[in-house]
Amino acid sequence: MSETVIRMACADDAEAVAAIERATSDTPWSITALAKDISDNSRAIVLVASVNGDVIGYADVWCIAGEAELNNIGVLEGYRGRHIGQALLEEAIRKSSASCQLMNLEVRAGNNAAISLYEKLGFVRNGLRKNYYENNGEDAVLMTAEIGNV
Ligand SMILES: CC(C)(COP(=O)(O)OP(=O)(O)OC[C@H]1O[C@@H](n2cnc3c(N)ncnc32)[C@H](O)[C@@H]1OP(=O)(O)O)[C@@H](O)C(=O)NCCC(=O)NCCS
Repeated sequence: MSETVIRMACADDAEAVAAIERATSDTPWSITALAKDISDNSRAIVLVASVNGDVIGYADVWCIAGEAELNNIGVLEGYRGRHIGQALLEEAIRKSSASCQLMNLEVRAGNNAAISLYEKLGFVRNGLRKNYYENNGEDAVLMTAEIGNV
């Protein structure tokens, strides 16, 4: 029986988080940037999902001036579809709601899985940035959710 745990990342998770970032993003953040958010950024919340002790997903949020920004969320391919991404985002929202009223994010217009997850958790579209992504000119959809009373 596999056990999924969602918890705050610690310094020892930086390598695993960076590996997930490389596997799930076309424009991955560096391990340096991720390690800083984990250990040395009081405005960042970095969560990991582990299954039987292996880190297989993560989420990174910044909370600044009452608004949270979801920077990254990713789950390794073999673990998708088990509501682990949802659990990560729900916990990110819960933690952010202590100091933030809103959570904002941007997502590739063609990323149906992520957009469905965000809509399921109450995010609504509130803007479009044309040709936003440098690697392929894809549009970015801007989404926001009210999280103040979670
Ligand atoms: C987006 C991502 C994190 C979702 O993680 P996941 O653990 O597979 O998603 P969950 O199992 O928690 O799904 C929760 C909900 O999201 C939606 N969803 C997830 N995957 C979906 C898919 N392939 N197609 C349609 N909807 C999907 C569904 O609404 C689902 O709820 P349901 O199962 O009750 O229908 C994952 O696909 C991923 O890592 N993608 C690559 C990285 C990425 O695109 N990150 C977002 C950048 S903005």
